[in-house]
Amino acid sequence: MKMLSKFGVLLLVGSIGFLSACEKDDDKDDQTPDPTPTLYQKVGGTEMVNDPSNSGMMIEKGRLSLRAVVDSTIFVIAGDPELQPYFPVLLGEVGNGDFSGFSALSKSLTDFFCVATGAENFNYSGMNMVDAHDPAKNSRMAMKSDDAAFDAFVADVVTGAQQNSVPNDIIAEVGELLETLRGDVVQK
Ligand code: HEM
Repeated sequence: MKMLSKFGVLLLVGSIGFLSACEKDDDKDDQTPDPTPTLYQKVGGTEMVNDPSNSGMMIEKGRLSLRAVVDSTIFVIAGDPELQPYFPVLLGEVGNGDFSGFSALSKSLTDFFCVATGAENFNYSGMNMVDAHDPAKNSRMAMKSDDAAFDAFVADVVTGAQQNSVPNDIIAEVGELLETLRGDVVQK
């Protein structure tokens, strides 16, 4: 009888140990950190918000952030003497009050940045980065880009982002993303 109760106590202690080990495993699962957020999530992600440019319409917050930066950047580029010579078609249109090319570029660049930063609900259907920056394939690109023009482009994106109060650490990540495309864009 004494032996039996000793065995019973051992069994009980063992079971508690086993149960708490299971509990620890469960805890571990609960504490598994979420996967690293994408850049798209960091700039607002999929939360739906009012679109300030289209009354009554909703837009993903991440796309709204990126579109704001893109639109500001296009204006910065338009005033940048280093980059103006590359955009004669666009600047000519805007000078004549025709914003159709501007709107198309805004959409195209916004789609591109959405996809590049990890958005899942948008597609980019424009030219690939090599063709888009080859004057032989894209008549809106006046001449091939060199490294200095690429640096100026990145600086203008930074200015566009700062104009929209994007935090510096996120701007740095955008810079890294752009840098991965230098080899496709710079063609001389
Ligand atoms: C990583 C940097 C860059 C990215 C991500 C980028 C992205 C793009 C995209 C998505 C388009 C639209 C293509 C289409 O709709 O099919 C475009 C067009 C264009 N890009 Fe870039 N680009 C970059 C750098 C540059 C640089 C450095 C220059 C000039 C030196 C430049 C000049 C142009 C021009 C002139 C167009 C045509 C604009 C228009 O529609 O009139 N891009 N770019």
